[in-house]
Amino acid sequence: MQKILITGSAGFIGFHLARRLLSAGYLVHGYDGMTSYYDVTLKQKRHAMLLQMPGFSATEAMLEDVATLDRIAEEFAPDVIVHLAAQAGVRYSLTHPRSYIEANFTGSFNVLEVARRLKVKHLLMASTSSVYGAGPAMPFREVDRTDQPLTVYAATKKATEALAHSYAHLWGLPITLFRFFTVYGSWGRPDLAYFKFVDAILHGRPIDVYNHGELWRDFTDVEDLVQAVSRLIPVIPPLPGAPGTPVEGDSLSPVAPYRIVNVGNSEKVHLMDFIAAIEDVVGRKAICNFLPMQPGDVPATWADCTLLERLTGFRPQTDLRRGLKGFVDWYRDYYQV
Ligand SMILES: NC(=O)c1ccc[n+]([C@@H]2O[C@H](COP(=O)([O-])OP(=O)(O)OC[C@H]3O[C@@H](n4cnc5c(N)ncnc54)[C@H](O)[C@@H]3O)[C@@H](O)[C@H]2O)c1
Repeated sequence: MQKILITGSAGFIGFHLARRLLSAGYLVHGYDGMTSYYDVTLKQKRHAMLLQMPGFSATEAMLEDVATLDRIAEEFAPDVIVHLAAQAGVRYSLTHPRSYIEANFTGSFNVLEVARRLKVKHLLMASTSSVYGAGPAMPFREVDRTDQPLTVYAATKKATEALAHSYAHLWGLPITLFRFFTVYGSWGRPDLAYFKFVDAILHGRPIDVYNHGELWRDFTDVEDLVQAVSRLIPVIPPLPGAPGTPVEGDSLSPVAPYRIVNVGNSEKVHLMDFIAAIEDVVGRKAICNFLPMQPGDVPATWADCTLLERLTGFRPQTDLRRGLKGFVDWYRDYYQV
């Protein structure tokens, strides 16, 4: 039975991924520092639900706690590591840059060291669509230029991509980097716009709409996203020169077993259409407080997911209203609204 270490397992995506992998029969160890960036109760409840499932065990510790990370990884001896733990959030990085350097850069370095020492079969790590900045033409492709990040969050993720490439090259460690595009769904993150919008609309409060609504985002349903991630686990980037690679449009490195894969919904949605979809699902109108563009925000994100589909035969395509209904149903039930 394959053993998978998931960092960030009490987080939104880590929780959904662990649930999916446990249902598929994997043994999963979750590692999460339960940081107070948002409501810790939500994280504790996610872990408590996972602990009900056979095959799950967990450690509450920070990535920066090298002694604990090393000990747990050695004891569990994973075949695969999925590294999702991070200080997430674009806006918070304007006021708390140090926590991004520590969690995302130093923390990811500690995970890379563990993966190298244990010679895991595959290390998969979360990056973000934010690395595309305001730069390339859309939809964004993995091979587009990404060396002009607009925020510390994006910069630490880009730096992690670069560090990971050097590990893949020097040690022959197979690494896949995911670039996730705005993920939403049940048990979601209270710091993200869709969560705040539903919360405010249900309670009759106004919502803050930045850049006067002139923003576009590629919204990805979390169930689609974790399906894509689980399908990529056995798709191990080969050493350079291996037969049959790279596939057309591949981001595979010419000098390392290293690949970057976009995971998005391949659709850009105008923010006002997104708000209209929430209004439909919730059954109430939003009171919009129109504001200028926030520093560091990008006007649009839009994923080209051709590579994901070529590698896995799968492409996220959950209809936005159906996905939002799943979130709103969970929200109403969880908060009894
Ligand atoms: N949700 C999205 O829309 C989105 C988009 C792009 C990229 N991502 C990336 O996907 C990954 C998962 O995101 P998420 O939405 O589940 O976020 P999340 O904040 O819900 O989960 C991250 C988890 O990591 C833990 N953590 C943070 N810093 C830690 C540290 N230093 N040591 C140990 N644990 C720590 C937190 O306690 C949290 O439970 C992150 O790497 C994030 O940057 C998410």
